[in-house]
Amino acid sequence: MSQIMLQRVLPFSKRLIEKASLPGETVVDATAGNGNDTQFLAEHVGDKGHVFAFDVQQQALDSTAKRLQDLVKRVTLVLDSHANVDQYVQAPIAGAMFNLGYLPHSHDLSIITKPDSTIEAVHKLLSLLKKEGIITIAVYDGHEGGKEERDALLNYVMKLHQSDVHVAKYEMVNQPNNPPFLLAIEKLRDFTEVRITE
Ligand SMILES: C[S@@+](CC[C@H](N)C(=O)[O-])C[C@H]1O[C@@H](n2cnc3c(N)ncnc32)[C@H](O)[C@@H]1O
Repeated sequence: MSQIMLQRVLPFSKRLIEKASLPGETVVDATAGNGNDTQFLAEHVGDKGHVFAFDVQQQALDSTAKRLQDLVKRVTLVLDSHANVDQYVQAPIAGAMFNLGYLPHSHDLSIITKPDSTIEAVHKLLSLLKKEGIITIAVYDGHEGGKEERDALLNYVMKLHQSDVHVAKYEMVNQPNNPPFLLAIEKLRDFTEVRITE
């Protein structure tokens, strides 16, 4: 891994997950896409760990399975919305990664993550997360619908109770071309009911 401290958003999110989770634990890739994060997670948790990878497009899961090759044994590929994560995954999980937006190189770029389902997934994952577990969310706002999702998500995470979680925003401010920013949520104590402050 690079020695640069202020890494770009995607490597930085992996570093946080590496710190929060141990080999043998269960983690979630909430947006499998072409499988970059799923592969990283499967390598990290090792052969005693497990990854649940969600996507609403069969094309994405096929592409993820192809990338994983033998590592696919460590992964459950779920063709369903991450909003239904609680139907497939049991607590405790050590971490979860989101990479919002659309599937790169897809023939249908209109299939994007949406505010309501993204927030529902984060909300449910917070209950499933172990204490000191981390959820990372790479947020893109350059595409149609991206700004609405960004604003709804920021509004939600800013209301999470400060005794329950720390929420950080990590962003490069000197890069052109609308790079993603990262939201990282760390669970500070055990809870199943997520508290929202008004
Ligand atoms: C930016 S891509 C993810 C990239 C991926 N992490 C990678 O490493 O290639 C976003 C993915 O989210 C998927 N997606 C959209 N809505 C979803 C939902 N409700 N549940 C799960 N996945 C969803 C899209 O189909 C798309 O493949």
